[in-house]
Amino acid sequence: MGFPITRMRRMRGHSALREMARETRLHPGDFIFPSFVVEGEDKKEEIPSMPGQFRYSVDRLPEMADACLAAGVDKVILFGIPEEKDPEGTGAYAEEGIVQRAFRALSDRYGDELFLIGDVCLCEYTSHGHCGMIVDGRVDNDRTLQVLAHTAVSQVRAGAHMVAPSDMMDGRVRALREALDKAGFPETPILSYAAKYASAFYGPFRDAAESAPRFGDRRGYQMDPANAREAMREIALDIEEGADMIMVKPALAFLDIVRRARERFDLPLAAYNVSGEYAMVKAAAENGWIDERKVTLEILTAIRRAGADVILTYHALDAARWLAEEEGGT
Ligand code: PBG
Repeated sequence: MGFPITRMRRMRGHSALREMARETRLHPGDFIFPSFVVEGEDKKEEIPSMPGQFRYSVDRLPEMADACLAAGVDKVILFGIPEEKDPEGTGAYAEEGIVQRAFRALSDRYGDELFLIGDVCLCEYTSHGHCGMIVDGRVDNDRTLQVLAHTAVSQVRAGAHMVAPSDMMDGRVRALREALDKAGFPETPILSYAAKYASAFYGPFRDAAESAPRFGDRRGYQMDPANAREAMREIALDIEEGADMIMVKPALAFLDIVRRARERFDLPLAAYNVSGEYAMVKAAAENGWIDERKVTLEILTAIRRAGADVILTYHALDAARWLAEEEGGT
């Protein structure tokens, strides 16, 4: 039944019709806000390549948390940036480590009101900037597992509600699961960065976290952007090892992977709208070339439409505010 009986435009002629026909909706509850914590006091430093994003010292983290809660975003993932780095990344699991102190401060102050996620990786803590331990010039998979497990347990002890391994070592989800169970945290869930690609879109994050590798690159452990079937194997393995939620990262150049993962797996699915994606929108908007608000909401809607339940995004607070304004009819 084609034209003129069928007219697609009929359902587009009034905002009420468009609302009824809408297939995908954004909600602040779908967002996780990534944030950075640094050593020192009274610090709130803007990250040059990520305008509008800051690195906070522990004492000023409540400013970030209050802004999240005021916007209706109650989930954050924290990245710690230590002052001292060493080849083993010992700062990642130190009792008085930067991210541990941050979790303690936030969980003391906000309890369960603010959901705290720990990014489990070594790249911010190692002097060489790789995500694992170096043995004979290579990132050694199996030696890294214990350190990651240790890191996860220390974050949960400090108050993290969930841990998210982002290192791409084989077997890390099982290592974390076993260590958490043994430490008395069988109920703490794991959000696995299951399909994480070796992407140039992480550039601004590496400036922010001072975590760029000093030699080589991450192609020996992160995935080749050319591969889609392989992502399904990565995700299936992480589920077998005990992942409770899975992630595809980055989001925009990998929406086909998000879609495939959605169709194939029934776990809650997250996508990471990464630093380079954020920086591109900011740069174009600052030049007056695009409308930041419209472009951002379009991007986030597309990530949800592709199949993600949850989006990690630096635009979480802005987007939540914009959505609230739209509901208010402005
Ligand atoms: C740490 C980690 C990275 C990101 C999240 N966790 C960087 C990397 O793998 O180099 C990137 C996030 C972003 O670009 O926003 N391993």
